[in-house]
Amino acid sequence: MEKIKILTVTDLHQNEDLYESLAKAVKEHQPDVLAFVGDFLDAGGGKKSFSIDDVIRAIGQMKVKKVIFIRGNHEDENWWYFFHVWTPLFGAPIALHAEGYKTDPGVLIGFPCLMGDEEAFRGDREMVMADTETWLPSVFQQFGKSARSLWLMHEPSTGTSLSTPNSVVQGNVEWREAIEKYQPWLVIFGHDHRTPKKNQWHDTIGETLCVNVGQYTPKKVHYTLVEMTFSENQPLPEKMKVAVFPQKKSLERELGNGIWKTSKN
Ligand SMILES: [Fe+2]
Repeated sequence: MEKIKILTVTDLHQNEDLYESLAKAVKEHQPDVLAFVGDFLDAGGGKKSFSIDDVIRAIGQMKVKKVIFIRGNHEDENWWYFFHVWTPLFGAPIALHAEGYKTDPGVLIGFPCLMGDEEAFRGDREMVMADTETWLPSVFQQFGKSARSLWLMHEPSTGTSLSTPNSVVQGNVEWREAIEKYQPWLVIFGHDHRTPKKNQWHDTIGETLCVNVGQYTPKKVHYTLVEMTFSENQPLPEKMKVAVFPQKKSLERELGNGIWKTSKN
């Protein structure tokens, strides 16, 4: 059996308290992968804002093997500066744009963000359409069934209790269509900060569990810890567990059974 632990976080917006709270979470859980699911840059203008250099220093000090970035609507031309400071220190960042990444074990898929200016983040890569049928099938061709385990996207899917309807954070109908068609095990997004305040952190679309970890408390970072166990050469996990903090609630699912159950620990 091989195991992997992935910590995902969204919407930090260069907030000093949230980055410091994240550093504590990384120290506590020691994940193999730390994934920023959009809006980690672009300060909200508050007093407790980090500069981009501070953000890079803070992430660089977190002891984690791999750091992955997914674009949110607040990553625009600020990504140029981030990229050019980050690269000489840590190598080119793993910045997913409508593509998969082997976390080994396992694969995760990083969705694009339809809002905002993606040019800097996309770099030399081709533009993709909102219609996921124009790019997602090639991801499945490359990674096979493994591409069904974990999808990370900044903007929510529409039509769940995890995003505010008829608002700028309602999410994308195209994401929902893709989830309905491919039924990934777990989809994690953020962007909507309102629904987490109602203590609503998960919902389902068919057998897919959707989780929103948009920030809702000013000091304690809201994040998930995804733990997966794989049998040798199996594309999908034997077991997947997702825990959400600071609520300390968790759900788990096993291979061959599409039902998510409350975890005992
Ligand atoms: Fe956002």
